[in-house]
Amino acid sequence: MGYEYIAVEKEGAVAVVTLNRPQQMNALSYGLIKELSTAMEALDRDQEVRVMIVTGGEKVFAAGADIKEMADAGPFDERIQGRLAFRDRINKISKPVIAAVSGYALGGGCELAMSCDIIIASETARFGQPEINLGTIPGSGGTQRLSRALGKYRAMEMVLAGEQIGASEAQQRGLVNKVVPVELLLEEAKALAEKIAAKPPLAAKLAKEAVLKAFNSPLDEGLEFERKSFYLLFASEDRREGMKAFLEKRKPEFKGK
Ligand code: HXC
Repeated sequence: MGYEYIAVEKEGAVAVVTLNRPQQMNALSYGLIKELSTAMEALDRDQEVRVMIVTGGEKVFAAGADIKEMADAGPFDERIQGRLAFRDRINKISKPVIAAVSGYALGGGCELAMSCDIIIASETARFGQPEINLGTIPGSGGTQRLSRALGKYRAMEMVLAGEQIGASEAQQRGLVNKVVPVELLLEEAKALAEKIAAKPPLAAKLAKEAVLKAFNSPLDEGLEFERKSFYLLFASEDRREGMKAFLEKRKPEFKGK
């Protein structure tokens, strides 16, 4: 399928989705978000794909929602409500998603990176929620995910003062998994993606869901979900294969069953 605002590339079990509006700093227009959510849902259904990488390339991740497009929109405008509906679908992707962030990840761009499961950043990455400068606030999870990642006080400073943080602070505070030189960004993200892609996919899917539960539910509920998922995986062929291979001192062959 041809896309106008993104590019999708599959390399074995890893799919790389690249935001592609370089002249507009990859601003997340309605069209781009719609394509991104459609493509990611298609990759989620694609049996060959086990892990996705979302990137904006080396210069910029995304400078937020498209301000030109939002400037005279009303609250019930499709460009506002519709985009957020597509955005919500990105949060429901079941396969592991890695964000490879270089340059600005601002507003909706920062929120997009934070809805991924792992963030690899280049040394030039900058994260921020500057919506306050435009008379609004983050609308795709920024106030919630940033607070969980950085704690209340630094998150408040970023959301209230529109302050940005760089890659090394983001890493120190746990927002970013790893910081690498720009030219190694995609390579690093792919290496990690391939490592995860070699794991049994049903276990990866339930592991992702279980970790996300830690943010969405009280501890008891999360523990119950974890226990049930643990039991459920005993019904999978890959669980049997994984344990057998260990005992037979060989590499397991996972089939996603
Ligand atoms: C539309 C944008 C844009 C955006 C940049 N551009 N960001 N267009 N929406 N979010 C365009 C500029 O208008 C300009 O177009 C071109 O990209 C290059 O940008 P410059 O500003 O000239 O580049 P630079 O001086 O390097 O500054 C980069 C920047 C700055 C710091 C990223 O562009 C900036 O502050 N952008 C806005 C960031 C922001 O406020 N994001 C939050 C958006 S609200 P021309 O045509 O002049 O060349 C949001 C809410 C999400 O995300 C909630 C969901 C609804």
